[in-house]
Amino acid sequence: MQPMARFLITSALPYINGIKHLGNLAGSMLPADAHARFRRLQGHEVLFLCATDEHGTPAELAAAEAGQDVRAYCDAQFAIQKQACDGFALSFDHFGRSSSPQNRALTQAFAEALEENGLIEERVSKQIYSIADGRFLPDRYVEGTCPKCGFERARGDQCDSCGSLLDPVDLRNPRSKISGSTQLEVRDTAHLFLLQPKMQERIRAWVDRAEDWPSLARSIAYKWLDEGLIDRAITRDLSWGVPVLGREGPRPGFENKVFYVWFDAPIEYIACAQEAGVDWARWWRTDQGAGDVTYIQFMGKDNVAFHTVSFPVTIMGSNQPWKLVDRLKAFNWVTWYGGKFSTSEKRGIFMDQALDVLPSDCWRWHLLANAPESADSAFTLEALQLGVNSDLANVFGNLINRITRFCAARFESKVPGGGAPGERETALAQRLAAGITALTAHHEAMEFRKAAAELRALWAIGNEYLQIAAPWTAIKTDPEAAALGVRTGLNLCAVLAILSQPFIPDAAGAVLDGLGVPMKNRNWPIASDMGLLDALPRGLAITPPELLFKKIEDAQIAQWAEQFGAG
Ligand code: 2FM
Ligand code: ZN
Repeated sequence: MQPMARFLITSALPYINGIKHLGNLAGSMLPADAHARFRRLQGHEVLFLCATDEHGTPAELAAAEAGQDVRAYCDAQFAIQKQACDGFALSFDHFGRSSSPQNRALTQAFAEALEENGLIEERVSKQIYSIADGRFLPDRYVEGTCPKCGFERARGDQCDSCGSLLDPVDLRNPRSKISGSTQLEVRDTAHLFLLQPKMQERIRAWVDRAEDWPSLARSIAYKWLDEGLIDRAITRDLSWGVPVLGREGPRPGFENKVFYVWFDAPIEYIACAQEAGVDWARWWRTDQGAGDVTYIQFMGKDNVAFHTVSFPVTIMGSNQPWKLVDRLKAFNWVTWYGGKFSTSEKRGIFMDQALDVLPSDCWRWHLLANAPESADSAFTLEALQLGVNSDLANVFGNLINRITRFCAARFESKVPGGGAPGERETALAQRLAAGITALTAHHEAMEFRKAAAELRALWAIGNEYLQIAAPWTAIKTDPEAAALGVRTGLNLCAVLAILSQPFIPDAAGAVLDGLGVPMKNRNWPIASDMGLLDALPRGLAITPPELLFKKIEDAQIAQWAEQFGAG
C-alpha cells in the first residue's frame, strides 16, 4: 500500500447565470469528480471543491432579465445548480459561492497585498457614461454597430458576428443595454490595474518548472507569456461584486465599482475551503502544512490562461506562501450536432433535463468514456444509446444480473463454498491483475477515455469467464464446479463494482450493497492481491440488485431528438 497522500482538487467554477449544459459538466466537474473518487478510494486524503461563479455582468444582466434582485437571483440559481450537481453525484466536499463573505474578505486582502507590493496601480481611463442611467457602463452594457462588419448588435467587448475584439468607445451608434438610451458620452474614470508585466519572469520560470502539466496547458501559458503580459484593469463599474476598499471604508472614487469577476473568482478556490469549515490553511498555506499537498485543477481550455497566468500573478504577487497548482487537466469542447452547446442560445441538453430522462450513471459513463481530451468530442444521442445499451446494460448489467440471480435460484442466495480454483481461475486472476494495473495508471494520469476503455474490457472478461465456466450447465453434472464458478463470478462482480465506482457510483454502490460488501472493503484493490477472487466470506447472504440499467429504445431517442432539437 502506498503511503497516504493529500490531494486538493478543484473544478472550474460554473457561472451562476443558468443551469449548466452537459458540455460544461463533461469538461470539468465530472472528470474532477471521477478523479476525486478514485483518489479517495486509494485511501488518500482529498479536498474536492467547487462553487458558483456569481459576480460580473452576466449575473447582473441575467437577474435584470429575470426581473429579480441580483442576490435573490443568485440564491435561486445556486439552489438549482446545487441540486443538479447532487443529482449527478458530484462528490464535492464543499460547493461554495464566490459571493461569500470569505471570498469578499480574501479578495480584498489579495488586492491590498498586491498594491503594497507595487503590483496594483490606480489609473484614469476613458469610459462610456450613460446620462440617462446615471452611471458608467461596463463593456458588455454598451451595444452598437460594429466598426468592422456593420453588425448592429455588437457588444462593447466583442462583435458576435465577426468575432472582432472591440473597445466600447469604437462602436458606432452606441446605446445603453440597461435603458436603451443613446445619451452617452465619454468621460474620465479611475480603475485599478494589475501590473502583470512585472511578474512576467517569475511566471515564466514557474511554468518552465511545471513539467507535470499536459502540453495543452503549457502551450497556452507560453503563448500568453510570449505575447507579453499586459497591465489589466481589475475593477468594473458594477454594484454586484466585491467592493473596492481604501484605508477606511470604500476607496474614494470606487464607491460604485467592484473587482472584475475574473479577479475574485479563482480566489474563491481558497475561500471555498474556508467556507467548508475545514482546516483550510492545511490545504492552502505552504507554511501551515500545504507543502505536501498535490493540487490538481480541472477546467475547459478557455480557462487555461486565467489559471496558468492571471491567477498565479495574484497568488505569487502577494508574496505570501499560498499553494500553487501542481497538475492541470484541461478539456476541449463537447459539440452538439456540428455546433456548440450554448447556454445563451439554449442549445443542447442541460443538467436538469438530462436527469429527467435518464439516471445520472448513464450520462456519467457516456460523457467520461467520450471525454473531450485530445480533441473536441461530438455528442450524439445515438452514441449515448449505444454506450448505455451495450456497455452498461449488455455487458456490466448482464454480468451482475446473471450471476446474482443464478446464485439466488440455485445456492439459496449465499456465496457457495466448494470447488477448488484451477487454471481457468488463475488465468482470470492474472488478467484481472493486469487490468487493475492499467486502469490504475490511466486514472493516475487522468486519462478518462483510456480508463473507460480498460474498465469496459474488464467487464467483458467477466462475461467471458462465465461463458466458459458456465455454472448453469455444470450444476447438472458437477455441483462443485458450479459452486466454484458462482463464487468466483460473485467475487469478480464485487471487484468490478469497486473499480467502477469513480464512473458509475450509484450502480456500483447498488451492486456492492447487494453483495454485502461493507464500506471498509470498497477501497481500490491492489493489483498483486491474489485473494481478490475469494474475498467474499463463504455463506454470505447476497441480494440480486434490481435491474441496473434499462435499455434505451429507439422511440426514446426519436422523442429526445425532437425535445432537445438534435440534428
Ligand atoms: O468560464 C467559466 O465558466 C468561469 N466561470 C470559470 C471560472 S473558474 C475560476 F477561476 F473561478
Ligand atoms: Zn463585427
